Amino acid sequence: MIRGLDHLAIAVSNLDEAVTLWQTVLGATVVHREVVVEQKVEVVMLKLGDLKIELLWPTSADSGVSKFLASRGPGLHHIAIQADSTQAELSRLSDAGVRLIDLHARVGAEGTHVGFLHPKALEGVLVELVEHGHERSR
Ligand code: CO
Repeated sequence: MIRGLDHLAIAVSNLDEAVTLWQTVLGATVVHREVVVEQKVEVVMLKLGDLKIELLWPTSADSGVSKFLASRGPGLHHIAIQADSTQAELSRLSDAGVRLIDLHARVGAEGTHVGFLHPKALEGVLVELVEHGHERSR
């Protein structure tokens, strides 16, 4: 089952500058910073009121975020929606013929289980499903 918005993600070309910008302009606070090896990105999760904003910076030239920055420049990269079970949603969508990037859930930031729909499935918008409850203890 889909639960609601989890976060908005923005691709950035300079992570520290972007963090400072969001802190200065809108008063965002940093809640988490992590290199997600599986996705070749470094992630900073910001909190802005009830909203979570994920800044994405590529750690490798063959990262999907590198390709995104090269073709579109910095900006909105994806929206993330909370699901009870990422795998159950991916299986349901796959059975329904919806175009997916991930057929199987994978590990995202903070140990969440994530999966991406193909942007062509939703008119150019990249949508991530996020399942909480697997967070690593810090
Ligand atoms: Co995300």
